[in-house]
Amino acid sequence: MKVMVIGSGAREHALAWKLARSPQVEAVLCAPGNAGTARVGRNLPEVAATDVHAVVAAAKAEAVGFVVVGPEAPLAAGLVDALSDANVPTFGPTKAAARLEASKGFAKDFMKRFAIPTAAYGTFDDAEAAKAFVRERGEPMVVKADGLAAGKGVVVADTVEETCAAIDEMLVDARFGAAGATVVVEERLVGPEVSFHAICDGERYVALAAAQDHKRLGDGDEGPNTGGMGAYSPPPMVTPEIEAAIREQVVAPTLAGMTELGCPFRGALFVGLMIVDGAPKVLEYNVRFGDPETEVLMARWDGDVLPLLLGSARGDLSGVQPRWGAPAALSVVMASEGYPGRYPKGRAIEGLDAANGLEGVVVVEAGTTRDGDATVTSGGRVLCVTATGADVREAAARAYAGVDAIRFEGAQHRRDIGWQARGDA
Ligand code: AMP
Ligand code: GLY
Repeated sequence: MKVMVIGSGAREHALAWKLARSPQVEAVLCAPGNAGTARVGRNLPEVAATDVHAVVAAAKAEAVGFVVVGPEAPLAAGLVDALSDANVPTFGPTKAAARLEASKGFAKDFMKRFAIPTAAYGTFDDAEAAKAFVRERGEPMVVKADGLAAGKGVVVADTVEETCAAIDEMLVDARFGAAGATVVVEERLVGPEVSFHAICDGERYVALAAAQDHKRLGDGDEGPNTGGMGAYSPPPMVTPEIEAAIREQVVAPTLAGMTELGCPFRGALFVGLMIVDGAPKVLEYNVRFGDPETEVLMARWDGDVLPLLLGSARGDLSGVQPRWGAPAALSVVMASEGYPGRYPKGRAIEGLDAANGLEGVVVVEAGTTRDGDATVTSGGRVLCVTATGADVREAAARAYAGVDAIRFEGAQHRRDIGWQARGDA
């Protein structure tokens, strides 16, 4: 079977890498792909991930048997619906089901209706009403643009004034355009954050191992928020009791609720949670694999991942069991100078082969492209140096050996990924 992966980041490289190893997969295409996906398959650089028409046309022209969609934007644009209409089995939710991520207001109302634990909130399109709500509560709150804002539409305020300023920025100054024309204002929670993925077929799900992302740029969780500077699995705070609570209180009612609303959920349901006083609360739903979580989950997954993804797309995951080979995995992001602000492109990367040759290490590529024989930087997050191990500590030691073998000018990375599980930081 020919498989096409949609997207161009590290998540897509990790999925393409794993799919290319499936005995049932004869070729992997990636649209548009990066230098990493080109190492495990063939890129279609002219096909943009969000160009629904072009993706459908490419899937037809290449006689693709299965499409795996990476990012949220094409899902929200209805790519899965269009490919289904063209009879191409596709991994991911329909446009209607993708509202769980594409509209935070939809997600919050959904959680309220189906009694799924989450922060208290209000939804507003009027700034004065939103600010009155904050002043009445008299505490700093979190302001979220309703629509997709490339991970930037959330302000966790420290004071009431800051909360009100964030409301004005979105509702009055239209900082996020239409995506911020409605905002969710919610209670600020405190606790460790974890990522939980359930691969769903509309009715059943296969729970993947829990993971933890590191969103801040600097060591000690300091500095600006980023798309994620590293991840590891398993996080020690997800005890068997917490995992059971996540399954029973969040994943199962979410699947049942979506079915009740007439839009059964297929694809990757990735729940961002905070553990508050020993109980999980949902911060957000994502309707696709996390990045960099996917890198560690694919590294840990043992063997063929096709039955999991195809079973989800076909609506039949019965008989698919999670298969964890490595007990732990950890991924360190190497980012461009200046990230998450403006950054240069085109800097030559050295040491990829050396790092890939180290025990347990695989360098998953994010913002990379080819320039003649060289691999050069082309994005903010450039590489996710990933390693497996007997525990998180060993995975960290191996991943950092990989990081230390790689060089590009201005590279920045955190040294403390996995600190909550390493016991040495
Ligand atoms: P989201 O895109 O909704 O996950 O929000 C981005 C980040 O903002 C999360 O990863 C959290 O670190 C933080 N955040 C979101 N909602 C809350 C909340 N209710 N309380 C505290 N922090 C939050
Ligand atoms: N790792 C967070 C995300 O993919 O949204």
